[in-house]
Amino acid sequence: MVRGGRPLYGTAQVPAAKNSVLPLLAASLLCGGPVRLRGVPRLSDVEGCMALLRGVGCAAAWDGGDVVVSGRAACCRLPAGETARLRASVLFAAPLLGRLGRAETALPGGCNIGARPVDWHLGALEQMGARVCQVGQRLVLSAPSGLHGACLSLPGPSVGATETALLAGCAARGRTVVENAALEPEILDLAQFLNRCGGCVEGAGTSRIVIEGGRRLHGTAYRPMPDRIFASTLACAVASARGRVTIAGCSPGLYAPVLDVLEQAGCWVLRGAGWASVGRAGPLRGVGLLETGVYPGLATDAAPLVAAALLSARGQTVLVDHVFEARFGCAGGFKAMGAAVSVRGRTLHIHGGRPLHGADVTAGDLRGGAALVVAALGARGSSRIAGREYIARGYGGLEEMLRSLGARIG
Ligand code: EPZ
Repeated sequence: MVRGGRPLYGTAQVPAAKNSVLPLLAASLLCGGPVRLRGVPRLSDVEGCMALLRGVGCAAAWDGGDVVVSGRAACCRLPAGETARLRASVLFAAPLLGRLGRAETALPGGCNIGARPVDWHLGALEQMGARVCQVGQRLVLSAPSGLHGACLSLPGPSVGATETALLAGCAARGRTVVENAALEPEILDLAQFLNRCGGCVEGAGTSRIVIEGGRRLHGTAYRPMPDRIFASTLACAVASARGRVTIAGCSPGLYAPVLDVLEQAGCWVLRGAGWASVGRAGPLRGVGLLETGVYPGLATDAAPLVAAALLSARGQTVLVDHVFEARFGCAGGFKAMGAAVSVRGRTLHIHGGRPLHGADVTAGDLRGGAALVVAALGARGSSRIAGREYIARGYGGLEEMLRSLGARIG
């Protein structure tokens, strides 16, 4: 429940990034000793990946705000329930394959923002010596003589497929070169973790990554990078609700396109080392055409959040998501709140200028659900947002944090 119309004031600390923690949990399968991830948010996707680790024989438990993974994988079959629910389950195939010579999983689920195939993941593993057999939704990958290095050229800049290639490259004999690798900072975070564990990954953050495999990886303690999409969510919440919030613990450079758009729309933004302050007092103006892209472009995950912040801005905003084909499922909720929006394929048109009122709406995916919260904060009156479990996948303690900033939410 959200009662909108109250400005947000205060300071918020950005938690660790879901999209870094999940690949790091998969990477822990490659480590011969215990792995401690520090300051991990309590997300259902994190719990799901811990269940995957336990399902293959590792120990994975909370220790305060940390997650500790220990023990070696003894079973190659990933639990079907979790793999069907979690997109990130695909990341567990490469390390299992590397350690046990076999991995049994299922075509992964995840938010319904598009088709989201895993063909590029499987293609990379096949080039490294794996055999892939699909029976219905089940996938059986085998590499009886282990994985070997390869020169991979990914068909497209995919975050997940790049992460699969890094994990497989560490487990493989010899050198793996990944061309057309994705540039997202979460990939750099994974490479830094693997190198901290004794791996040799060079070039992460560029489109060409080289991995020297065949090295024994030990355990480590590691603090994952901050969540740039959570930070974007807070910035868009202020733009929607008015007020002034300092977003601490995340470099503004990690979500620069979002801050730039909000500034262009009429918010003011201060950028510091590891923090940003965002404020909004008066009316916002539409910003015309916005297109998402791979990093460092406007993140696809931020598109619904920016849309929510600009629903009442005077003038047009047009958002095109080039990454996923069904990113704007939340547009129905925006309309219910009185926004003048229309969706055609990958494009969301916001005709702007209309004040929002509370409404009963339903989240259909993670970022769409967060976008409905952002819009409700700026709406007059109360909104009820169903589908809270979607939001819980990627936002731990969002309600408490927004309440601490003055929002009436619960
Ligand atoms: C990661 O998903 C993130 N998830 C997504 O965040 C994020 O939106 C996305 O990267 C883009 O930044 C995690 O890190 C767990 P991709 P991923 O592979 O890896 C196509 C959130 O809300 N593709 O970069 O699945 C794909 O269909 C989530 O936190 C293939 O065709 O994204 C898409 O069009 C949502 N075949 C494009 O590439 C493949 O084998 C980019 O997808 C793989 C991808």
